[in-house]
Amino acid sequence: MKVPIASPVMTEKMIEAAATALRNERLTLGESVFKFEEAFAKMCGSKFAIAVSSGTAALQLALQAHGVKAGDRVIAPAMSFVATTNAFVPFGVAPGFADVSEKDYTLDPAKLRAAIDGKTKAVLPVHLYGHVAAMDEINEVARKQNIVVIEDSCQAHGAGYKGKKAGNLANAGCFSFYPTKNMHVGGDGGMITTNDDKVADACQRMRHCGRKKGSNYEHDIIGYTYRLNSANAAVGIEQLKMLEGWNEKRRVVAKKYDQMLHGVGDLALPPQPTKDVVPVFHLYTLRTKKRYELKAFLEGKGVGVGLNYEIPIHLQPVYKEMFGYREGMLPVTEKSCKEVIAIPMFPDLTEEQVKYVVDSVKEFYSK
Ligand SMILES: Cc1ncc(COP(=O)(O)O)c(C=O)c1O
Repeated sequence: MKVPIASPVMTEKMIEAAATALRNERLTLGESVFKFEEAFAKMCGSKFAIAVSSGTAALQLALQAHGVKAGDRVIAPAMSFVATTNAFVPFGVAPGFADVSEKDYTLDPAKLRAAIDGKTKAVLPVHLYGHVAAMDEINEVARKQNIVVIEDSCQAHGAGYKGKKAGNLANAGCFSFYPTKNMHVGGDGGMITTNDDKVADACQRMRHCGRKKGSNYEHDIIGYTYRLNSANAAVGIEQLKMLEGWNEKRRVVAKKYDQMLHGVGDLALPPQPTKDVVPVFHLYTLRTKKRYELKAFLEGKGVGVGLNYEIPIHLQPVYKEMFGYREGMLPVTEKSCKEVIAIPMFPDLTEEQVKYVVDSVKEFYSK
């Protein structure tokens, strides 16, 4: 049997929606883009959603719309995909990394407080693997220090926190629709969510080459070609309708894995739902000291695995070279990144596939 790590869905209905948009709409920033934005804002409970070309573009524009500029510093966890900080390093903003909490791999509010200096303008908590960070504490630290909070919700579409949704818990939220995410747009895409009229307006102009609203030839802000294509938005509308059901199915799969893998070998289970957090299990990650051996064994059995993230951002070769970072700066991040391993997780994983993955893991530990 082969069980992939992820399995992006593309139904006939989604393909038809894309084809209809291609036949009838402006190819970029067409009617579907605005409908997708409206539906996404509604899902998050935010006033605005601004569709862009990727999650990285969303993070960049959200920071710039809040006035973050060259010479400033932005704090983020290093236990994340490199795009979290790639979003601002190219425009001259320095990363300031703070360690994560051992219990859920999200930004530790106490470490954030200690990392803030006079140049720090913003913090980017990451809802890693679909588990929302300690937003109340993070917002409180940020409020006292007068810095902006932008949620990196690229792995947390529809995740809950104290009755609200990820992306509506701070100054702005940023989402990615890369094909393996909890929902996608049939290609690359991203979204910024905010309740702030001025931020929404700046993002709308920046994604469209900095055009002045209502004008084709006048530009009043430096901008980029970060528009979303209409066909992608049309797929996104259909995917969004499935999101809640898909997330529930992911939680059911996670629960099965929890029950079947509890107490097996040296495995530690992923962060669990809490009274505050309703996770969406973008990934299901275990922890083990034997992850390379387990990876090789599972791959030999046809089971897809991921090492998210084998190298924390501060220890990526380019970051070490640019900023002189060394091992030892972020102990929890570094230790976790040496031990995490993701196993197959997608909504339509069958009972049979779950059992096959679990049996394969158990076989590894019985040797
Ligand atoms: C945590 C995180 N931040 C940012 C991104 C960047 O999104 P994109 O690949 O759409 O640019 C991703 C996903 O790829 C991500 O997982």
